[in-house]
Amino acid sequence: MNLLLLGGTGFLGRAIATLARDRGIDLTCLARGSALPPDGVPLIRADRDHQDALEPVADREWDAVIDLSRQPGQVRRAVRDLTTSHWVFVSTANVYARFDRLEPDEDSELVEPLEVDEMRGVEDYGPAKVACENLIRSAPGTSTIVRPGLIGGPGDVSGRSGYYVWRFANPTGPDILVPPDLSLPVSLIDVDDLASFILTCAEHRVAATLNTTGPTHTLGEVLEACREVVGDGAPEIRPVPADILEREGVQQWMGPRSLPLWINDPEWRFFATLDTSGARSHGLQTRPLVETMARTLDYEENRTEPREAGLTDDEEIALRETLELEG
Ligand SMILES: NC(=O)c1ccc[n+]([C@@H]2O[C@H](COP(=O)([O-])OP(=O)(O)OC[C@H]3O[C@@H](n4cnc5c(N)ncnc54)[C@H](OP(=O)(O)O)[C@@H]3O)[C@@H](O)[C@H]2O)c1
Repeated sequence: MNLLLLGGTGFLGRAIATLARDRGIDLTCLARGSALPPDGVPLIRADRDHQDALEPVADREWDAVIDLSRQPGQVRRAVRDLTTSHWVFVSTANVYARFDRLEPDEDSELVEPLEVDEMRGVEDYGPAKVACENLIRSAPGTSTIVRPGLIGGPGDVSGRSGYYVWRFANPTGPDILVPPDLSLPVSLIDVDDLASFILTCAEHRVAATLNTTGPTHTLGEVLEACREVVGDGAPEIRPVPADILEREGVQQWMGPRSLPLWINDPEWRFFATLDTSGARSHGLQTRPLVETMARTLDYEENRTEPREAGLTDDEEIALRETLELEG
């Protein structure tokens, strides 16, 4: 199979490229080259914001093209310029309009597609992906649209999947501070499980739209898996009331001064409960959470980029002192 990967230098793309190389697939990556693809994988440097960016790969007939874009304009030009019999587009769970009910399936209501070619901010993310999906479906040939929830594992620079396991291994006191609601549904898919499934969809020309995430756990179970990875001597958890977190400016979900994975909004409560029966019937397999957490700890302990999520040591110590002063 000759495969064109539009990406290959970022988190998911590198995982796809590594696996494709190891499976002996004839792979070409195209990206600006902010980082390098894995050793032995050719990279064509191009900026897809330019009209003629795909010229170097437009004269070849590809067995499959995998596109990781978030920008409808980039996808529009890919569909216009490339020749392939199968597309795999990596979309997102954020295409769904509602997360106040359990287990959205692929027929659930979507947000309206973005009407312009470029996202103006993060609020355009879901609408942009809907527009991209529509463009891919309109292309000649078949297509797989995969809709991942949170992607985790080694290389997750966002730190969403890595913060707690790293914090268990690097405590600032007798306990680690965690969100209040341990019953919150949480799921993530290991980046290598997703990469493997994406390649399977390309190889078998799966024509479907598929939610792709790991099993739904509770936040408490995720924290327990992190604790298990660290083993003997791992600290206890200490849930912090939501009003204190909000008052102290601790963010939800991601970013600096945050408690990652925490969502305190009923409209988003079931974000992590996607129905994945379709993807599983097409061969999606996901490893145990504890295995992903062990791999992620290894990455977090050796990462060179600054940590983008969670509390710094000083922030966690100060918050614990506040809790103790307030009894
Ligand atoms: N991370 C998650 O939890 C998550 C969840 C659901 C869905 N997704 C989706 O999964 C996909 C991959 O996510 P990721 O975290 O691996 O993304 P990423 O690290 O940002 O990778 C994006 C890729 O696109 C390339 N790219 C960006 N702008 C470009 C341009 N103007 N021209 C050419 N190439 C360009 C980047 O390479 P260069 O910078 O080298 O150009 C990179 O290889 C995305 O579509 C994302 O929406 C992610």
